[in-house]
Amino acid sequence: MADETPEVTPIVWRDGKLLLLDQRKLPGKETYLMCRGAKETARAIKSMVVRGAPAIGVTAAYGLAVEARKFRRGSIHSDFEAAAATLADARPTAVNLIWAIERMRGLMGNVAEGSDPREVAAAFADEAQRIHAQDIEINRRLGSYGAELLNGGDVITHCNAGALATAGYGTALGVIRASWDGGRRFGVYATETRPYLQGARLTSWELTKLGIPVTLVTDGMVGHLFANRAVEAVVVGTDRTAANGDVANKIGTYQIAVLARRHGVAFYVAAPTSSIDLDCATGADIPIEERDPTEVTHISGKRVAAEYVSVFNPAFDVTPNDLVSGIITEHGVVVGDYKKGLAEKVATGRRARS
Ligand code: MRU
Repeated sequence: MADETPEVTPIVWRDGKLLLLDQRKLPGKETYLMCRGAKETARAIKSMVVRGAPAIGVTAAYGLAVEARKFRRGSIHSDFEAAAATLADARPTAVNLIWAIERMRGLMGNVAEGSDPREVAAAFADEAQRIHAQDIEINRRLGSYGAELLNGGDVITHCNAGALATAGYGTALGVIRASWDGGRRFGVYATETRPYLQGARLTSWELTKLGIPVTLVTDGMVGHLFANRAVEAVVVGTDRTAANGDVANKIGTYQIAVLARRHGVAFYVAAPTSSIDLDCATGADIPIEERDPTEVTHISGKRVAAEYVSVFNPAFDVTPNDLVSGIITEHGVVVGDYKKGLAEKVATGRRARS
C-alpha cells in the first residue's frame, strides 16, 4: 500500500520504550512523552496525553509491557494483577482498555511464578506490538467497508476518531479517508466538541494534514447546519457499543443522532469489534465517565464561567440503537438486528485473532 505509514503516529514503541504523542498540546506542539511503567501510563491515559478508545487500549498493552520488566520472579502473577488494576482504573467508558488488558492477561496462562521475568517482558512486548499492528489493519478494513456507504456528499463527524484516537488511520476518519482515497470528493464538518475540543484541536488538524476539506462548527450549530446545508451522513466513533447496538461516544453525539433522524440523514458508527461489549446488554449498562468541572468552567486554563457555578461534565453519552443507521466493523456493516449482527462480528473477530 502506498500510504503504509500513518501521517500521524500517536503511539511509538522504539527500542523497548513507550512514547506517546502528547495530544494535550496539539495542534500547537508535537512532542512525545515517555512512559516508564504502568502508573505513568495510567496517568497519561487519565490526563488525556493519549485518548480515543482504541489508542487507550493499545497504550495500556504497552504499559503492561514496560511494567513487565519490573515483575519479580516468584510474584509475577500478583505483579501483573497490580499493574492491570492500575491501568484498568484509568478511564471507565472505553471498553478497549479492558479488552487490551484481557488480551495481555491471556499470556499469563502460560507463565509460572518461577519464570524468568525477562522472558515474560519479551512476550508482553511482542503481544503489545501485535495489538498495535492489528489495530491499524482493522481500521483500514473498517474504513473500506464504511467507504461503500458514502456517495460523495458532505459528512459530519464529532470528536476525534482519527489516527490520533487509534494506533493509526482512524475509525470514523478511516471511513472518511477511505472514501476520499477511493476518489470521492466532499467536505467534512467537524464539530468543535466542547468541552475538550477534540474536534477543533485534533480532527481539524488531522483532516487538514490529509488534504480533506474540513469546516469547523461549534456543537450548537449542528441543527442549523442540517437545516441549511446538504449533508449526506454523520460518521462517528464509539467508546463502547452495547450488545443491542446502543452506542456510547463523546458527549454531544446523541443530540447529533436525533437531529440526523429529524433531517433524514444517515447516522453511522465506526466500531471495531474491540469496542463492542457484549457483556453490556444495553447502553444503560455502560459506565459514563464524569470529568473535572474545570474542563467546563475554564478554556486553556482561563476561567470563563462565573465563580461557584455548579457543573455537570459527563464525557460521553449513549445514542439509542434506533437512531443508528448502521454499525461499521472490520468484518462488515451491521444494519437492523444489532443483537444478532454484533454478536456475529465479535465472534468473527475472535476467530480471526486465534
Ligand atoms: O474523551 P476522548 O477524547 O477519549 O473520547 C474519544 C471519543 O469519544 C471517540 O469518538 C471514541 O473514542 C472513538 S475513537 C476511534
